[in-house]
Amino acid sequence: MNALNSKVALVTGGGRGIGAAVALRLAQDGADVVITYQRDAQAAENVVKQIVALGRRAAAHRADSADPAEVVAAVDAAAAEFGRLDILVNNAGEFRLGPIEELTLADFEQTVAVNVRAPFVASQAALRHLTSGGRIIMIGSNAAERVVFPGFSLYSLSKTALTGLTKALGRELGPRGITVNLVHPGATDTELNPADGPNATVVNGFTATGHYADPADIAAAVAFLARADSRYVTGTSISVDGGFTS
Ligand SMILES: NC(=O)c1ccc[n+]([C@@H]2O[C@H](COP(=O)([O-])OP(=O)(O)OC[C@H]3O[C@@H](n4cnc5c(N)ncnc54)[C@H](OP(=O)(O)O)[C@@H]3O)[C@@H](O)[C@H]2O)c1
Repeated sequence: MNALNSKVALVTGGGRGIGAAVALRLAQDGADVVITYQRDAQAAENVVKQIVALGRRAAAHRADSADPAEVVAAVDAAAAEFGRLDILVNNAGEFRLGPIEELTLADFEQTVAVNVRAPFVASQAALRHLTSGGRIIMIGSNAAERVVFPGFSLYSLSKTALTGLTKALGRELGPRGITVNLVHPGATDTELNPADGPNATVVNGFTATGHYADPADIAAAVAFLARADSRYVTGTSISVDGGFTS
């Protein structure tokens, strides 16, 4: 029996990169999965096809995480589509870097809207559907724990906010049997941060493993937190960063 049989998951930003790997892994473990995307409908549809090929149900919805109404609508649509919601993975993220003098208020608003407000709003909406055994999993970043390059002020502050949200929600929802946890990926080979990108050699030097994560490495941690037997893990974070922050 698969660990997530009869569960329904929503993964924001599940069309590419880490979100796509998470969606596929949850489906491999038995879940039906709804994903959101922003622009790339084709990529999202490819993920849906791969999940259906695994024998699970899947759907993709365009929902910009910067828009709270679209976030709430996506959560409700996921629950309506497959009749329930058990797992919310807040993955979609904004990655704006630059010297602090060059970052604009618009950069600030957009980053906080996608990286902080959307997980808050999605979690709030999901709680209309999650029951005991429910799971909220945030995708943060190890830039919340250690910053080795300049230019990360905005990104790092936004991902650090998820620590507070995770701890407080873990405390609040424990009595309801719902766990809330945060996964901090390190450098992970996606279009956002390709393993052959300009900073890769330096980043790899800070890891114990000497290489980037594969998106499946991040998905494996999410899959653990989604399972019933992780029920005593809540309000905490797991770094999946090859030892970068150790
Ligand atoms: N890659 C890394 O090294 C790394 C390290 C630490 C943390 N992270 C975090 O991991 C998460 C995923 O990153 P990734 O590397 O997988 O990124 P990615 O390859 O750029 O994929 C991002 C996915 O999120 C979707 N997305 C982006 N902005 C969105 C928005 N406003 N509304 C809805 N969907 C949106 C994209 O949709 P479209 O396909 O439609 O564009 C895409 O499906 C982010 O939170 C990121 O901060 C990544």
